[in-house]
Amino acid sequence: MSNKIQSLSGYIHEYQKSVNEPEKFWARIADSFHWQKPWDNVLSWNNEGPHVKWFENAKLNITENIFERHLFTHGDKAAIIWEPNDPNLANKIISYRELFELTCQFSNAMLAQGVKKGDRVIIYMPMIPEAAVAMLACARIGAVHSVVFAGFSSSALADRIIDCEAKMVLTSDGNFRGSKNIPVKAVVDEALEKTSTVEKVIVCKRTNAEVTMASGRDIWWHDAIREESKINTAESLDAEDLLFILYTSGSTGKPKGVVHTTGGYMVYTQYSFENVFQYEQNDVYWCTADIGWITGHSYIIYGPLLSGATTLMFEGVPTYPHPGRFWEVVDKYEVNQFYTAPTAIRALQAQGLGPVAPYKLDSLKVIGSVGEPINEEAWHWYHDHIGKGNCPLVDTWWQTETGGIMISPLAGITPNKPAHASLPLPGIQPIIVDAEGNELKGNNVEGNLCIKFPWPSMLRTTYGDHKRFKETYFSAYPGMYFTGDGAKRDHDGYIRILGRVDDVINVSGHRMGTAEVENAINEHPRVIESAVVGFPHDIKGQGIYAYVICDEDGISNEILIDEIKNTVRKIIGPIAKPDEIQIVPGLPKTRSGKIMRRILRKVASKDISNLGDTSTLLNPEIVEQIIAGAQIK
Ligand code: WTA
Repeated sequence: MSNKIQSLSGYIHEYQKSVNEPEKFWARIADSFHWQKPWDNVLSWNNEGPHVKWFENAKLNITENIFERHLFTHGDKAAIIWEPNDPNLANKIISYRELFELTCQFSNAMLAQGVKKGDRVIIYMPMIPEAAVAMLACARIGAVHSVVFAGFSSSALADRIIDCEAKMVLTSDGNFRGSKNIPVKAVVDEALEKTSTVEKVIVCKRTNAEVTMASGRDIWWHDAIREESKINTAESLDAEDLLFILYTSGSTGKPKGVVHTTGGYMVYTQYSFENVFQYEQNDVYWCTADIGWITGHSYIIYGPLLSGATTLMFEGVPTYPHPGRFWEVVDKYEVNQFYTAPTAIRALQAQGLGPVAPYKLDSLKVIGSVGEPINEEAWHWYHDHIGKGNCPLVDTWWQTETGGIMISPLAGITPNKPAHASLPLPGIQPIIVDAEGNELKGNNVEGNLCIKFPWPSMLRTTYGDHKRFKETYFSAYPGMYFTGDGAKRDHDGYIRILGRVDDVINVSGHRMGTAEVENAINEHPRVIESAVVGFPHDIKGQGIYAYVICDEDGISNEILIDEIKNTVRKIIGPIAKPDEIQIVPGLPKTRSGKIMRRILRKVASKDISNLGDTSTLLNPEIVEQIIAGAQIK
């Protein structure tokens, strides 16, 4: 049964129902899924705790809703189309029935290796079909997956293994990405030297890289499945049992484990997928994200597969072996819905129209954007040259914490407005508040974006630290979820996301906490103190600018700057490497010792016309010295 909205009036009607009677609304949507046991209560919500439960006491398995529910009608339909990094090598087209068998077989293999319901399993894998199988098999046996983006360093991986006390790691020998052949297993080996909970590592062969296999601990994927049956009975899970943990950066401290549970996440990712993209049964849908991010979880794997869709999984990068690769893949599979990030659009836009020209792109019906604000220039380029002016463009705003798309046009239904995420999905109640938390009603308002009522796929806690969950999301404006984003509602009532208002930088659509980058920089032995801010970057959206105070010992700044960049690369990964490092004699601090980041942001943005009030600074003279060092013309 489809819950697809068909028209703007239909949307308005559904939205009203979802706000007036949320429980009745979500019960109706959830009814179309397969529950082993129905819920006692649709929603219980206590905003003090805060504690939220959806579909309380219901029993289900999300993979039964992907497989058993669909096999009769489309067992032979392609579930995953996998396009390899190298276009000259064979692709794979995996039907629902085949994916089901692979999932069952790998579920049995994990059980045989001692994984039980509730155990945490780290997935550190490239974009290969086995990564999807790994996630689905965890879900099938009730193990909690935590996918770590395979570009993260061994120490970032170790932090995550330690935090969730993972019992197993699923990985590969290596990773083909563009022209690179990246060692993966070696990173896992290094991480495991720092951790103590992992009992088994299952290694999928992808690149044939030389790897060392620790005896008793490491086992090849193909060996692990060899004797296993392709039949497996799904574990029965409670709607509120953990489905996965995904680590993400915030304004303070180390990345936190965002916890998503089974029932609500299932209902919301499927509902939002079907409605935002207006997927139709024979369509081919492609989301270019990596499974290491929430977009890969919700809109490569769970949302599309729950909808019985054909989802394309791409191993490579947009510019390999040539900058027309995305468009070549769109034509090759006649992709109907294409979903990517503004940073990719800007990078491809910078190559001009030459790489687009050879491709027809006439299969496209819907194009989408996610991960960061899309500037109007990129929006128009994408709309005109990729969507050929006649594909609705869905600018989808959401977060790791929200689990699914929250504010977005519904393709072909909501009138398109460039660079506007537009209107909330049914069930989502966003509000814009001022600094004191007063709701700014009506149109033409700008402030901080909060969500005032729970939705099924919201995070339930931060793993192992409920206090942090409350402090991070529910303390700025008590009783409401604070997103960390600024937003504007225009004269038509359409929402435009303005970007983060906290100390999170959005680099190429990836979240980086400034504190996290500073901590990594401070690991360099010559660094005394650092302050990191974002600055506007033509391709990445935001770049990372670091102001660093060092001790004095005569090494040239250039060597030192390179060393510091490498320290960050080693501690977090290449995505966190600062674009600019300025060695400074001091940092502007208030009398209470707080760094005045506002000034640092302005200097990094080369905008020093109005630095505002600096009279509360302990060391106002430092500002001139920093400006001089930044060499702003
Ligand atoms: C930003 C990614 C503007 C925002 C799904 C948010 C966006 C953060 C958009 C979450 C958009 C995401 N327009 N900004 N369409 N989508 N963002 O957790 O700042 O990796 O808070 O989730 O990305 O990033 P995350």
